[in-house]
Amino acid sequence: MYSQGLIGADGSTEETDRFLEAFQARIDAEEKIEPMDPMPEGYRRTLIRQIGQHAHSEVVGMLPEGNWITRAPSLKRKLALLAKVQDEGGHGLYLYSAAETLGITREQMTDELHSGKAKYSSIFNYPTLSWADMGAVGWLVDGAAIMNQIALCRCSYGPYARAMVRVCAEESFHQRQGYEIMLTLCRGTEAQKKMAQDSLNRLWWPSLMMFGPHDGDSAHSEQSMKWKIKRFSNDALREKFIAATVPQAEFLGLTVPDPDLKWDDGLNGGKGGYAHGDIDWDEFWRVVKGDGVMNRERIAMRKAAWDNGAWVREAALAHAAKRCDTLAAE
Ligand code: 3HC
Repeated sequence: MYSQGLIGADGSTEETDRFLEAFQARIDAEEKIEPMDPMPEGYRRTLIRQIGQHAHSEVVGMLPEGNWITRAPSLKRKLALLAKVQDEGGHGLYLYSAAETLGITREQMTDELHSGKAKYSSIFNYPTLSWADMGAVGWLVDGAAIMNQIALCRCSYGPYARAMVRVCAEESFHQRQGYEIMLTLCRGTEAQKKMAQDSLNRLWWPSLMMFGPHDGDSAHSEQSMKWKIKRFSNDALREKFIAATVPQAEFLGLTVPDPDLKWDDGLNGGKGGYAHGDIDWDEFWRVVKGDGVMNRERIAMRKAAWDNGAWVREAALAHAAKRCDTLAAE
C-alpha cells in the first residue's frame, strides 16, 4: 500500500534526484503532502519519529495530572482536571492515527515506547508534588506545548497539521485553566502563594527544556525545517515562550527562578527579547535517556495500563471480526 510512495534517499540516480527536487518544490509551494503521495523515505521516517514521540508525550502526560484527580480541592476543579486529562488521551489517539497513515502500527509504536526505543517529552519525568503543580503544568507545560504546536498546524504533512488544529484549541483551554489555578493561589493566603512559587521554581527550567536542545545541538532541525515539518527552530520557540510567559509570572506576583533573566529592548544593538540563564543540559539528557526521577514509574504505569486493557482490545477485535463475517455473509 505504501511502497509506491517510498523513494530511496540514496541520491544515486538521476531519477531520484529529480524526484527529490520535485518533492521539495511541492514543499516550497506550501502544498500539503498526503498519505498516499510519494515521499522521500527520510521524510516519512522523520514524521513517524516526531509524531510517534508526540503521541507518547500526550499519553504519558496523562499520568502526572491523573494522580491529582481524586485530590482536586473542589468538584469544579475535579471536573476541569478530568476533562483535561481525557483531552490528552484524545490527542494521543489523533496523533497515533496520523502516524499510522505513514505505515507504522499502533502496536509497533507502543512496543517502542515500552522498550525505551521511542522517546516522549522530558517534562513528564518530573513529579507533581502539590495541587499548585496542576496550575503550573497547565500554565507552563501546556503553554510551551501550544507555542510549539501552533507552528505545527502549518506542518507540511496534512494529517499531522490537521490534528494539530484541534489539539491547539484544546490546549489553550488547558493553559487557561492552569493559569486560573495559579491566579487563585496567588490571590489566596501566604501559604498558597508560597506553594505557587515553589511550583514555578521546580517546573520553570524543565518547561524550557521541552523545546529541545539548542539549535546548534539539534540533530534534526535543519532538515525538518527544510521539509517544513518544523517551522521554527527550538531556540526561536523557547524565546517566544519566555517572552510570553515572564509577564504572566509578573502579573501573578511570582518570581521566575532565573537571576540572569534580563529584558533587552534591542535598542543598543542587542537582539531584543529576554536573555536568560544557562539551561542544565546534563540534566536534560539524563532525563531524555531514561534516568529522570519519574522515568521508570511512568513507563511501568503505561505498561500496566496496556496489559490491563488487553481484554478490551481483544473484545473489540472479536466484535469487528464477527461484524465482517456477518457483512460477508449478507
Ligand atoms: N524530551 C525528550 N526528547 C527530546 C526533547 C524533549 N523535550 N527535545 C528533543 N528531544 C530529542 C529528540 O526527539 C531527538 O531524539 P531522537 O533523535 O532520538 O528522535 C533529540 O532529542 C534531538 O533533538 P532535535 O531538536 O534534533 O529533535 P526534533 O527536531 O524532533 O525537535 C521537538 C524536538 C521540538 C520536541 C520536536 O520533535 C517537536 O516539535 N515535536 C512535536 C511536539 C511534541 O512532541 N511535544 C511534546 C510536548 S508535550 C505535549 O504536547 C502534551 C501536552 O499535553 C502538554
